Amino acid sequence: MTDFLIEQALPGGEADALLDAAFGPERRLKASYRLREGAEVADGLSFVARETGSGRLAGVVSFWPLRISGDGRQALLLGPLAVHPDFQRNGLGGRLLRHGVEAAREKGHRLVFLVGDAPYYGRFGFLQVPEGRVLMPGPYDPRRLLYLELVPGAFDGAGGLLLPEHRWRA
Ligand SMILES: CC(C)(COP(=O)(O)OP(=O)(O)OC[C@H]1O[C@@H](n2cnc3c(N)ncnc32)[C@H](O)[C@@H]1OP(=O)(O)O)[C@@H](O)C(=O)NCCC(=O)NCCS
Repeated sequence: MTDFLIEQALPGGEADALLDAAFGPERRLKASYRLREGAEVADGLSFVARETGSGRLAGVVSFWPLRISGDGRQALLLGPLAVHPDFQRNGLGGRLLRHGVEAAREKGHRLVFLVGDAPYYGRFGFLQVPEGRVLMPGPYDPRRLLYLELVPGAFDGAGGLLLPEHRWRA
């Protein structure tokens, strides 16, 4: 059975080829890319998975710092999460997701957003943002904007526009 080792690694480089293979090159047009443009990944929250033995890159996940414009509360943007087509359906996507979410929780983060398929992310506890309550610079399908509370109640009262942390300070 294929096994994987998850380790910290900065995004970019070899991970880009994997993302093109998983999502296609048009991935760069997605709204979530606008939230990551010019941003630095959240401290210690970028991971790769390698096939043990071969060392081949099999999956990636990273998290990016956000603010919600309403009250300036901090959150994370999860993504991209991807598993190379050669390694999909081995449970690796779920392992990477849980690994990243636990690392984020340990670092004291409270709230995570992502744009993705609710049927996949729902199994990990992600919920649809009630339409219009939290927005992101578009275009995107609002039904795909999902959140996960790392601390119960972290989404209570949240409202406004998601902004990259570096634009909030500016
Ligand atoms: C989505 C992705 C990260 C899952 O990685 P993975 O390692 O194959 O995932 P896991 O092995 O943990 O889980 C596989 C299960 O998720 C399901 N699944 C995969 N993508 C799904 C999706 N978009 N919607 C619903 N279910 C999905 C599979 O059918 C499988 O179900 P099963 O366990 O009942 O057989 C990976 O398929 C990927 O990178 N895909 C390309 C990008 C993409 O389509 N992303 C969609 C979410 S934004």
